[in-house]
Amino acid sequence: MENTILVTGGAGFIGSNFILQRMERESDSVVNLDKLTYAGHLRNLEAIANDRRHEFVHGDIADRGLVRGLLERRRPQAIVHFAAESHVDRSIRGPDDFIRTNVDGTFALLEEVRTYWGGLTEQERADFRFLHVSTDEVFGSLDPEDPAFSETTPYAPNSPYAASKAASDHFVRAYHHTYGLPVLTTNCSNNYGRFQFPEKLIPLVILNARAGKPLPVYGDGQNVRDWLYVEDHCEAIATVLTRGRVGQTYNIGGWNEKRNIDIVEIICDIVDEMAGRRGSSRRGLITFVKDRPGHDRRYAMDANKIERELGWRPLETFESGIRKTVRWYLENEEWVRDVTSGSYRQWIETHYSS
Ligand code: NAD
Ligand code: DAU
Repeated sequence: MENTILVTGGAGFIGSNFILQRMERESDSVVNLDKLTYAGHLRNLEAIANDRRHEFVHGDIADRGLVRGLLERRRPQAIVHFAAESHVDRSIRGPDDFIRTNVDGTFALLEEVRTYWGGLTEQERADFRFLHVSTDEVFGSLDPEDPAFSETTPYAPNSPYAASKAASDHFVRAYHHTYGLPVLTTNCSNNYGRFQFPEKLIPLVILNARAGKPLPVYGDGQNVRDWLYVEDHCEAIATVLTRGRVGQTYNIGGWNEKRNIDIVEIICDIVDEMAGRRGSSRRGLITFVKDRPGHDRRYAMDANKIERELGWRPLETFESGIRKTVRWYLENEEWVRDVTSGSYRQWIETHYSS
């Protein structure tokens, strides 16, 4: 039988990187269900536009009839669930979409998958996997000396985004414990790399630095994030999908904690080097702005379990990954122009005007 996986949110940042990597390495067919919100772009998948193993379906994970029909028609052996509203600042300004997609959407998907899975043969049921892609933000915030989050750290989500992801994680867990659905959950730290929508810190700073615009740093810039190159995240997901123990959760991280201000300064220096200086260093563009409400101080991931059990470790260093990323954004002006349409400009104006 042909091997088919269903990917949700495969036109977004991580989902598109995952599909491109997967199709390069495996012979699988991929069905990609994506609503194409402001964050989803088929351009990300241009490289496989003529590859018949990829089928794009434009739709909402919360549309149960659509999901049911898709599962019956394509009969996937696995689901990799990326689709979500993913930007913390947007969740603070308007949480509704986060509940609709991250909570209600995940629930709708789980219900349809449960029915589909229940109709498979015993062997197919045993081989089936539902992999839920989640975040380190469900664990809350760390003080400087606290140990990193592990798989047993209690959940303490602080933003509407984190709360919606935590809710979806709990539903996924419950579907395993109650119905026996073979689920896997991954909780990952901050990703960076090509195709990340420029509302997020790293691409926003690269593009503003290139254009000579202010570089907005929230609060005192001392908040810490653990950065992971997106292709390493995709490898980790593929590893968990094939070798992860059913019902388990795996933390994924880059062993790479950095303060926001350090990230911004590193990017300024690389853009100065690659795009040429215009007089003074771009560090002069750094502008401290009003803090994000409830801004988590520090995230750090203990990714020992996935290394010990499944042999995954990040391969890219931050030094090489960030250079690749800056170069990609500088060389892909057309992509940037395409994705930064009217609605993007409106978000930037509203969010940073105060
Ligand atoms: P993204 O915002 O770039 O992409 C999300 C994709 O989901 C878009 O293509 C969008 O069109 C699609 N989508 C949104 N609502 C949908 C719906 N109702 N139905 C179908 N498709 C829908 O997000 P990302 O950064 O690629 O994140 C992907 C997943 O990984 C999310 O679940 C996120 O919580 C998780 N995650 C992200 C990071 C990170 O640093 N970006 C880190 C850890 C975990
Ligand atoms: O930790 C994983 C999470 O990482 C994912 O679950 C989210 O989907 C993803 O968006 C990301 O969340 P963050 O809030 O950490 O990422 P963001 O790029 O928005 O911000 C990174 C840090 O930079 C954070 O401390 C806020 C700060 N920041 C962000 C922006 C957009 C600024 O100082 N200025 C900015 O303009």
